[in-house]
Amino acid sequence: MDGNGTTPLHPAVEAALIDAVRTCQANPSTPTPGGRKARRLIEEAEEKVKALFPIGGTPVFTGSGTESVSTAIHLALLLRPKTSTVPHVLCSCVDHPATYSTLRRLESLGEISLGVLPIGPGGTVPAAALLAAARAEPPALVCLIHAHNELGAVQDLGCLGELRRKAPGALVHVDASQSVGKTSLAPLASADLVTLTGHKQGAPKGISCLFISAGLTPSLHRIPPHGGILMCGGGQAGGLRSGTENVPYIHAFAKSLDVIGGREEGAMGFEALQEHHRAVCGAILSGLGDLKYGVNVGSDRAGASNVLSLSFEPVPSKVLVAALQERHGVTIAAGSACDAGGGGKPVASRTMKNLPGVSEGARLATVRISCGFWNTVEDGKRAGEAIRLEVRRLREEMNICRQANV
Ligand SMILES: Cc1ncc(COP(=O)(O)O)c(C=O)c1O
Repeated sequence: MDGNGTTPLHPAVEAALIDAVRTCQANPSTPTPGGRKARRLIEEAEEKVKALFPIGGTPVFTGSGTESVSTAIHLALLLRPKTSTVPHVLCSCVDHPATYSTLRRLESLGEISLGVLPIGPGGTVPAAALLAAARAEPPALVCLIHAHNELGAVQDLGCLGELRRKAPGALVHVDASQSVGKTSLAPLASADLVTLTGHKQGAPKGISCLFISAGLTPSLHRIPPHGGILMCGGGQAGGLRSGTENVPYIHAFAKSLDVIGGREEGAMGFEALQEHHRAVCGAILSGLGDLKYGVNVGSDRAGASNVLSLSFEPVPSKVLVAALQERHGVTIAAGSACDAGGGGKPVASRTMKNLPGVSEGARLATVRISCGFWNTVEDGKRAGEAIRLEVRRLREEMNICRQANV
């Protein structure tokens, strides 16, 4: 129940991956029959990504979601018109560290000025806050997270049209690493740059994709001619990412899109997968029975279909996560609280610290449960019941300790 951490390989993806590892090890840049076959697999994968974005554009396969996000940020900065002012960038206070830490680093180097947008109680940036910030200081780049990894909240991208009118020079990167199969991708059409991440959607770890929209494609010739955006070298991927392409992983990434698109025999497809997620989440909640708990955002129909962000005060999330793993073999995540340096008192995550309307106790006691195609409704019920047992036991223990003043 930790699919937002990473998913298992979907069986159809695994089969495609193994087949490509065995049969497609040639270098796609070599003009041999093997090389041409490898090139074809990349091109087919590119077509499958492009099919997600009817407006057209250029997919660049990368080695991780983190690399894709970093590439997007650096690309946006490379493409901005040359001026003497430091470019202004906006991000949300709950962006993944791939975005947040990269921008903080650039800020500390004096390469950008950074505006960090607040979130509302729904876990997303309110349109008014984004537009007001863009009006106050026009940004060169806006970074937003689509389906949130911890909360499951889905950012409304409806205001991007208005943003473009207010700040015509701004490029928009949307981190949709957690979106495929969990929410509609249609709103991503209004972004300039989109990150998709394989190991959140049934593909292996180590393969992601940065989609560069058609609107931006004509500007790509302005990238300095050293063979890449982040890494310079042999100029693969049309000069956008140097390094020999990982063809089997690219093929596996494309296969995961086939699976979620319902084009693979026996795979559920997007709508059925959504229903499945909701059935598993419903079974978890019914397994909790009459247990008292708090619900953060993301578990309603507006959020990602696969995530529950729940708090079981006063049990620290790490304690509950460990107890469930050790005593029941149930894996969930302390998606909202982590020990600073691995010891001492629990500390709320940046996300939970920034989520308004949640008490300190609830912040520290929040867990993330994120299901996927591999979970059954029965798994959901078992997980819910295990949580009920463990929370009751831990609450009693904590009560005894408190009474004994231990
Ligand atoms: C929203 C989001 N963005 C980016 C990443 C980074 O992906 P990767 O681990 O492949 O670098 C993750 C992974 O946790 C994520 O959830």
